[in-house]
Amino acid sequence: MKPIEITKDIYWVGAIDWNIRDFHGYSVYEGTTYNAFLILDEKVTLIDTVKEKLKYQLVERISHLIDPKRIDYVISNHTEMDHSGALEEVMELIGREKPVYCSQMGKKNLSMHFYSNLNLVAVKDGEELSLGKRKIRFIETRMLHWPDSMFSYLVDEGILFSSDAFGQHYASYERFDDQVDEFMIMFHAKKYYANILLPYAPLVLKLLNRIDEMGLKISMICPDHGIIWRTKKGISNMLNAYKEWSEQKPKRKALVIYDTMWHSTEKMAEAIVEAIGEEGISVKLINIRKWHRSDIMTEVLDSGAILIGSPTINNGLFPTVSDILTYMKGLRPKNKIGAAFGSYGWSGEAVKLINKELEEMKFEIIDPGIRFQFVPEKEILSKCRELGKRVADALKEKTKEG
Ligand code: FEO
Repeated sequence: MKPIEITKDIYWVGAIDWNIRDFHGYSVYEGTTYNAFLILDEKVTLIDTVKEKLKYQLVERISHLIDPKRIDYVISNHTEMDHSGALEEVMELIGREKPVYCSQMGKKNLSMHFYSNLNLVAVKDGEELSLGKRKIRFIETRMLHWPDSMFSYLVDEGILFSSDAFGQHYASYERFDDQVDEFMIMFHAKKYYANILLPYAPLVLKLLNRIDEMGLKISMICPDHGIIWRTKKGISNMLNAYKEWSEQKPKRKALVIYDTMWHSTEKMAEAIVEAIGEEGISVKLINIRKWHRSDIMTEVLDSGAILIGSPTINNGLFPTVSDILTYMKGLRPKNKIGAAFGSYGWSGEAVKLINKELEEMKFEIIDPGIRFQFVPEKEILSKCRELGKRVADALKEKTKEG
């Protein structure tokens, strides 16, 4: 396994995880990569490692270039185990006394990952480290997306090693944005943002402003997952997309997310979808059992209205509906219109429980919701259509320009 030169004397030495399909609950249909980078300077420097089980790939790629013992410095931009899992063994190989540069929180995390005597050196925001001909500046990016997260920036080349930010779960032999399909890779970047970074959207906006204020010249963005952004267009698309996704301005797009026991809630969902679509709003019908929760969140990211339907079971929500609401709430989507609906047999608590969740997410609830006992007949389906129309009108009003 060979390294790939990303620019003179700087190499990608990461690992490709072709077969992973579940990344701590996030569906990764096309695998992922754990990116690590080797800088050959007077001080040979490794930026990040890889998942523990794939360390052989990292070591093989490095060994194509140098004896790993020649590595002087290791930088850990992020301590989550997909990037630090191989750290202990890498240090064993290169010499445990060598410094591992990380943030203050990174030092704390790593000491609790390994409980061993690694030479962890905490760096401060803005601090610079000379590698010889080059210098690296550390940029603290706390909570993007862990308390320890930081970027490393190669000052002269303008290369930003951005940890998880700007990443995508996508396994490929190709390493750069100009080698893959633009729309496909932007989809993966959007899914990554929606499922990993969305809770921290206000911090992303602050970071983007800070990058502007610092006047950082960026010639390349090297995230810890997926392809490297090296084209002007790719870098600019990525920065603009992060701004847009973080602003969470509602779009004329609605989702009707539901589960059903005997197709009654489904009939209601279909009637709502038809009415929204007839109003010229982009709409999707999402049966939770046919979609992975992380794909649903990708759709939620740019939707202005979210309607949730659930049958009542054992006086509560259908379990799949609870699952998606819990997951969605944790990711803190903002600026959405919300509504609830559902059929029930005898007690019918689901709509009330959905509304409670929507309120907690601060969705704008435009209707108390529709609940109906057993099989919805014509009159109730026309009420569902009215709800769809109300949602469409509210969304048009909310997204009116000027
Ligand atoms: Fe790719 Fe937060 O780890």
